[in-house]
Amino acid sequence: MPLKMSPFGCWGLPAALLALFCCPGSGETFEVHMYPEQLVVEPGGSTLINCSTSCALPDTSGLETTLTKSLVASGTQWKQYVVSNVSQDTIIYCYFTCSRKQKLKSLNVSVFYPPKEVLLKLKPTRVAVGGSFTIECWVPNVAPLESLTLTLLRGKEAMHNKTFRTMALAPQEATVTHNATAHKEDGHHNFSCRADLDLRSLGGDIIHGVSEPQTLKVYGEGESPEGGGGREHSSPIP
Ligand SMILES: *[C@@H]1O[C@H](CO)[C@@H](O)[C@H](O)[C@H]1NC(C)=O
Ligand SMILES: *[C@@H]1O[C@H](CO)[C@@H](O)[C@H](O)[C@H]1NC(C)=O
Ligand SMILES: *[C@@H]1O[C@H](CO)[C@@H](O)[C@H](O)[C@H]1NC(C)=O
Ligand SMILES: *[C@@H]1O[C@H](CO)[C@@H](O)[C@H](O)[C@H]1NC(C)=O
Ligand SMILES: *[C@@H]1O[C@H](CO)[C@@H](O)[C@H](O)[C@H]1NC(C)=O
Ligand SMILES: *[C@@H]1O[C@H](CO)[C@@H](O)[C@H](O)[C@H]1NC(C)=O
Repeated sequence: MPLKMSPFGCWGLPAALLALFCCPGSGETFEVHMYPEQLVVEPGGSTLINCSTSCALPDTSGLETTLTKSLVASGTQWKQYVVSNVSQDTIIYCYFTCSRKQKLKSLNVSVFYPPKEVLLKLKPTRVAVGGSFTIECWVPNVAPLESLTLTLLRGKEAMHNKTFRTMALAPQEATVTHNATAHKEDGHHNFSCRADLDLRSLGGDIIHGVSEPQTLKVYGEGESPEGGGGREHSSPIP
């Protein structure tokens, strides 16, 4: 039998066998894409996913996920799905087969719990000049913790911040505590706490939350800590 070049570039083997076992690099090469490439959603959220391929005439295709999914629209080379009720971090796969070859693409889906509530407490709320006080900020039910920074502010000035490096699967409470010495000017500023959940590395934005402002009553030496609110407006102590 003469050596004859088959259309697939291998010698003398039936085409069907060729496609299956021979020449892994031969035949049509194609790619699978998923859009978006990264995804971060709130619990219960839903999102659109577009799976597409460079294969001109794909045989089959689909989306592998444990989530509720439905096909929204499709073309020869793409399918758009909506997946809904995302409740935890998950991986979604999209596949196409083309000339009996299958290719997969995966998408990491992360769930985030935004800093809805940011709470701030000054302890005590009345303090003498030079005395110490504690600023405590906490954010319940936030995730992922490793994307969170809490910043304590005096007016617009950042006094202290904390970035949480711990990996945590479930949403939890984040707290930061800072001890400070009271200055006379502290009575003229509002204290607040800002929470920044930086989801950019997961394909999202920065989500901000801020506490209600809190004021510190600072009294001078010789002034009574029990003194009524009216005293703040009286003339300063000599
Ligand atoms: C899905 O992606 C493909 C390839 O990028 C594009 O041609 C198609 O229009 C997209 N479909 C939708 C509904 O956006
Ligand atoms: C959404 O997911 C949660 C937890 O997996 C489940 O309890 C709930 O029934 C689901 N809701 C819908 C509308 O599918
Ligand atoms: C997706 O998640 C897997 C397992 O958690 C990880 O190894 C991989 O690097 C992630 N991919 C991307 C693009 O973030
Ligand atoms: C936190 O504080 C450090 C030093 O005080 C500063 O360099 C950094 O930029 C702050 N981070 C944020 C997110 O504000
Ligand atoms: C703040 O001060 C209190 C009491 O003086 C102390 O118990 C606590 O450890 C201090 N906290 C920090 C974060 O320095
Ligand atoms: C502090 O906060 C209160 C309440 O939001 C506001 O009325 C007041 O103007 C603020 N004071 C300063 C100095 O920013």
